[in-house]
Amino acid sequence: MTPQQESLFPGDTLFCKIARAVCRAGTLPRKELYETWEVAKRVRRRYRGGRVLDLACGHGLLAHIMLILDDSSEMAIAVDKNIPANAENLSNTLISAWPRLQNRIIYKNISIEEVDVRPDDIVVSAHACGTLTDLIIAKATAQLARVAVLPCCHDLRQSPTCGLEGWMEKTLAVDTIRAVELRAKGYKIIAQNIPDEITPKNRLLMGEYEKKLGER
Ligand SMILES: C[S@@+](CC[C@H](N)C(=O)[O-])C[C@H]1O[C@@H](n2cnc3c(N)ncnc32)[C@H](O)[C@@H]1O
Repeated sequence: MTPQQESLFPGDTLFCKIARAVCRAGTLPRKELYETWEVAKRVRRRYRGGRVLDLACGHGLLAHIMLILDDSSEMAIAVDKNIPANAENLSNTLISAWPRLQNRIIYKNISIEEVDVRPDDIVVSAHACGTLTDLIIAKATAQLARVAVLPCCHDLRQSPTCGLEGWMEKTLAVDTIRAVELRAKGYKIIAQNIPDEITPKNRLLMGEYEKKLGER
C-alpha cells in the first residue's frame, strides 16, 4: 500500500483510519492489512486487557491494532527473528495517528524460543509458518495464557493429521488436532474463519484457559 492509495479509504471508520496510516507508511501489502484487522477485531471481541505478545510479528501491525482496539492493554511486544527494516516506519506512522501508543510497543528481534510468556498475556500470531504455530501455542499454554493463532504453510511431514484425512482435507485435519489438543489442555476454544477472499489460510483458533472449581 502506498501514500497515493490513502484516497481509497475515505471513511470515518476505525478501519479506514488505520488503512490510511498503513498507506502513508508505504510498507505493507494490502492483504496484510485486511487479514491483520480481521484477526485483531475477532480476538478483541473475546479477550480484553493483558500484555499483548505478537509472535512472528513481521512488521508488527497486529501488536498496534490490538492496542488501538483496547487501550486497557498497557503494552505490546512484537517478536520476530527477522524484523523488517521498515517496521519502524510503520510503527512511527501509526504512533503519529495514535499518540497514546508512544513507548507502549516494543519490538524484539529474537526467536520465539526465547520469549517469556506471562499468565495474563494475550499471545497472538498471524501466519506463523508450519510448526512455529505449535511452538507458539505451546509457549502460551505452558503459562495458561490466552492464545490466538491463524496458522499457515502447514508442514504435513511434521504436523500430525491423526488419520483424519479420510474425512477432511489434510491441513484442516492438522488444525482440528491443534484445536482438540488445546481443548484437552483445559482451554475453552473458539474456531472461526476470516473471509477466504482475504486469505485462504484463514482458520483462526482462539483459546482461554478455563479455571476449574477451586482453582486460583
Ligand atoms: C509469514 S510471516 C508472518 C508475519 C506477520 N505475522 C504477518 O501476518 O504478516 C512469518 C514470520 O515468522 C518469522 N519467524 C520464523 N521463524 C521464527 C522464529 N523461530 N522466531 C521468531 N520469528 C520467526 C519470520 O521472520 C517471519 O517474519
